[in-house]
Amino acid sequence: VLPKISLVATAVAATILLSGCGDDAAPTGTVTLKTAFNQSENNPQYKALVSFSEKLESETKGRYKLEIHPNELLGDQRASLELVQSGAIQLAVVANPLVENFNKNFSVLAMPYVYDNPEHQRKVFTSGVLDSLFASTKGTGFEVVTAYTAGARSVYTKGAAVTSPADMKGKKIRVMQSDTMIKMLSCMGGTGVPMGQGEVYSAIQQGVLDGAENNEITYADLKQYEVAPYFSNTRHVMVADLLVANESFLAKMDEADRELFRKLAKESTVTQFELWDKALDGARQTAKDKGATFTEVDIKPFQESCKPLQSAMLTTPEQKALYEKIRELAK
Ligand code: GCU
Repeated sequence: VLPKISLVATAVAATILLSGCGDDAAPTGTVTLKTAFNQSENNPQYKALVSFSEKLESETKGRYKLEIHPNELLGDQRASLELVQSGAIQLAVVANPLVENFNKNFSVLAMPYVYDNPEHQRKVFTSGVLDSLFASTKGTGFEVVTAYTAGARSVYTKGAAVTSPADMKGKKIRVMQSDTMIKMLSCMGGTGVPMGQGEVYSAIQQGVLDGAENNEITYADLKQYEVAPYFSNTRHVMVADLLVANESFLAKMDEADRELFRKLAKESTVTQFELWDKALDGARQTAKDKGATFTEVDIKPFQESCKPLQSAMLTTPEQKALYEKIRELAK
């Protein structure tokens, strides 16, 4: 049985195809870039996309703008990435682990403890060191145009806080649809269960899961504190989110428009980091007001048990070189 959301996504995608939007939109008038987003309009990434769209529209004198579909209306991230690849839509925000499935070098961007802090991550995303990696998926139907922060991820659970790898034993924790995230949960002592974001709340509620792991903003915005009120600050990984664009749409843009598009996309990253920073305390407070408990965690035992995974993630010369470049920027 197909989950309900996939049926909706399929129907929406079919409508888009039939209505002939996509990258063949009429050259006159405004070209509307259909953009898939899996969370709500309150998310700092959504707001950064709105600001990106406004600038794009104004600087192209109304020739281009984004039409953002939030809340997984175009399907979960895996489905929306496929829509971007096929050209049914032009843009989507997807988490880094989904793109790792196309080029393993991306995994460096979501390695445990690769960034020292948000400021370091911002430098990495805006310094240009990722440009060749971002272009590397050309040929598979999409390209990465910029990266957004999604803060640091921590584990949250139903029964009680988790403060050590031993507490994680036997816990089924939802992870994103990626091998790395499954492995990460194992090295932390638990069991990772991959699924799309839209199903997490009810899976915890129904007891299919003991909890999940995510940043405070997603936790609060999706009201997951209602079903998993124990938020343990494991801060185990800062996973990048990526704005991906359909390759042929980019190729067909005239050069000046494409350069402008790329420049404004990069600038939206700076805006997004600012918005994220502003939203963080509010998200924590909202969750606390609704009964969530935040627990400090000694992260060293988790770091120790995840060391083997960290070295397993740095196998190719490209991965090692990229890791060095990222670490350079921490200095
Ligand atoms: C974060 C991230 C999203 C991702 C989500 C998830 O919220 O920003 O891109 O989809 O985690 O865990 O699915």
